[in-house]
Amino acid sequence: MNRNQHRLFYIGLGLLTIIDACNSSDRRQMVQTSNDLEIGYQERYRPRYHFSPPENWMNDPNGLVYYKGEYHLFYQYNPYGTKWGHMSWGHAVSQDLIHWEHLPVALYEEDGIMIFSGSAVIDQGNKSGLCDQPADDCMVAIYTAHIEDSVQYQSLAFSSDHGRTWEKYAGNPVLDLLKKDFRDPKVFWHQQSGQWIMVVALPDEFTVQFYASNNLIDWKYLSDFGQVGNMEKIWECPDLFPIEVATDRGREIKWVLLVSAGGPQDDYVGMQYFIGNFDGIKFQLDPAFVAPKYVDYGKDYYAAVTYNHIPNNRVLVGWANNWAYAQDIPTPGWRGAMALPRELSLIADENGSFELRQQPIFKLSGLRIEGHRFRDISIDDTELSLDSLSGRSMELNMQFRPDGAKEFGIKVMQGEGNGTSIFYRTEEEIMVFDRRNSGNVSFNDMFSGIDTVQVPLDKGRLNLRVFIDHSIVEVYAQNGRFSIVNQVFPKDQKGISWYAKGGKAVITKAEVWKLGSVWD
Ligand code: FRU
Repeated sequence: MNRNQHRLFYIGLGLLTIIDACNSSDRRQMVQTSNDLEIGYQERYRPRYHFSPPENWMNDPNGLVYYKGEYHLFYQYNPYGTKWGHMSWGHAVSQDLIHWEHLPVALYEEDGIMIFSGSAVIDQGNKSGLCDQPADDCMVAIYTAHIEDSVQYQSLAFSSDHGRTWEKYAGNPVLDLLKKDFRDPKVFWHQQSGQWIMVVALPDEFTVQFYASNNLIDWKYLSDFGQVGNMEKIWECPDLFPIEVATDRGREIKWVLLVSAGGPQDDYVGMQYFIGNFDGIKFQLDPAFVAPKYVDYGKDYYAAVTYNHIPNNRVLVGWANNWAYAQDIPTPGWRGAMALPRELSLIADENGSFELRQQPIFKLSGLRIEGHRFRDISIDDTELSLDSLSGRSMELNMQFRPDGAKEFGIKVMQGEGNGTSIFYRTEEEIMVFDRRNSGNVSFNDMFSGIDTVQVPLDKGRLNLRVFIDHSIVEVYAQNGRFSIVNQVFPKDQKGISWYAKGGKAVITKAEVWKLGSVWD
């Protein structure tokens, strides 16, 4: 049956249901470098439509750049083991940000110098002169060279063959303050001033710095921004980019500054952002912007940065993990995954400034195997199991209307007395993610817990989009105004149910999709 053929029928609950089986022939061929089945993409905690490395340890996304139809994803990678160490840049490419082809490691640790996080740009016409051919484009990586317990400085590497092979620049470093902590350069082309801009972190000074260059090699200091917002944890992986937004005054460009730093949950790392203006020299916070504001309210979203050179939209990719327990998560032979890429936009906030709206880039319709649609389901102080619709690779799009219920929501990956709950407390207007009973929570004391975020209802309704993928659960509320990414390590549970407590809630509409794998 192909994706255009629908079969309509009624299931036991008397609900209109649509089965939509899709043709998987357009899935791209994957290069799977690991032959070990245990750690292959069938392993029980392996995400089926999120990115994870073929084997070994991965953390931050690096060098996100779009070039000639390919999205490049480089990432912090340990080629030799499942814990952090020997940091190098792993590499994969994709044409749609969902199906990935693994490529060989791009940049290896060498002579005791690790390759820490950084970015990549396309130097059109090779103006830097780094690549051999003067007229060809040159892909340039700007990364932090890290010498353990000694120094961090900014260095370059370049590729003349679409990122397939790389050479480190013989004149490295290009920016060195002789500091132990000075890292994670994000470089982008600043159209208005016609130069490259670098934003880079001084982690323990809660500061980012801006530098400018004409050739990616010589950098001139511009300004500092910092000592505001959340200063509970060091600042890492900054990013700065413009987003166009509609205001009463017409269309305006606002600048978003992201910093991985103290998070919304005490004692855990997370990400905050600032909104203001950037004139090519200085970032000035919007006077009406009230900091801190957080990118995600789960525990597993960190080091996210955006793609360079995608025309017309801004795509963010983050590491779905947390340094508090990242090295202990119970995954065999591989560790670490990326959250779904998100498209960013801005909307007005309640203070007269702006806030981020994030929508997962989800061209997964080709991955939807079977779908069911529901309308106006009343749940009165009870729990409704979705039985045969349950699974561990799912997409659920739902709209709830509380009608007396004190609490209502969804439980996923249920079974053997375990489960993960995502629910809403009506009186307090709080959304909660509870993974205390989600399965294996004992591998690290910091893992078990709940996350909460204040989420106002929109015209009396809560709109929830939930993605389940074996060990990752992503929640987007109110059309991307709030998000929560969390890992869970269920035994073999897959049950899903809706519930309401202390009264009635209506699911005004819902779509439940079983999803296939991008790694088959
Ligand atoms: C963030 C980070 C970066 C650093 C990298 C090292 O997760 O600590 O600041 O460059 O990881 O792997």
